[in-house]
Amino acid sequence: MNKALRKVVIAGNWKMNKNPDEAKKLVEDIKPLVANANCDVIVCVPYVDLTNVLAAAAGSNVKVGAENCHWEVSGAYTGEISAQMLKSMNVEYVIIGHSERRQYFGETDVTVNLRVKAALAAGLKVILCVGERLEQREQGVTCELVAMQTKIALGGISDEDMKNIIIAYEPVWAIGTGKTATSEQANEVNLAIRETVAQLYGKAVGDATTVQYGGSMNAANAAELLAQPDVDGGLIGGASLKPADFATIVSAASK
Ligand code: PGA
Repeated sequence: MNKALRKVVIAGNWKMNKNPDEAKKLVEDIKPLVANANCDVIVCVPYVDLTNVLAAAAGSNVKVGAENCHWEVSGAYTGEISAQMLKSMNVEYVIIGHSERRQYFGETDVTVNLRVKAALAAGLKVILCVGERLEQREQGVTCELVAMQTKIALGGISDEDMKNIIIAYEPVWAIGTGKTATSEQANEVNLAIRETVAQLYGKAVGDATTVQYGGSMNAANAAELLAQPDVDGGLIGGASLKPADFATIVSAASK
């Protein structure tokens, strides 16, 4: 496998952190530190922060994403935000299928697929999250499970649309826990995801798809994880809220 075939992407996932003023400041702090990045840099932020973050990021190399979207265009879905609404604000990316959405908000592989299709139809780029829980790793089903999540999430998605999909492998036991997958574990599952994409769309699409690792990636461990041949970037939670740490990860990915 060859990283020259695909983009390296570092994306922050701010989760439910930062009010609009704090968000503006955080982007302003991050911008100069990542200005010379030799990889794509994205911040995915709460809906209410999008206006300020888009304004603060304008003209820089920092791209902006949301953390979820609904699959319908509009209608009686109290509390939800559609992909079209995000697109109308000039949001470029959206995270879909994060394990916290699956765990706390009842998302399933099927609703993840609906959201992926809606996001692509609206012209958004997708960061699709997959990953196993601890008991599933212990049961030895990680690669099959992640392959299944990937296949269901990509149901009905064309080859052409795959250009607008990044997949993030995020072992649930590693998210926010300080327990990181070893670089070998991360690479093994990232490769299994790439092989699944290759099965569905052919080797060229598999090779061209960015597969990130996420789960306690931080300034100290990023370089080792990102040195793996199939780890094409990271989806960063906690460390994305600390400008210097986020910048260290971006510079590790820029090598
Ligand atoms: P973490 O979160 O880096 O805080 O573990 C990663 C994520 O949930 O995307």
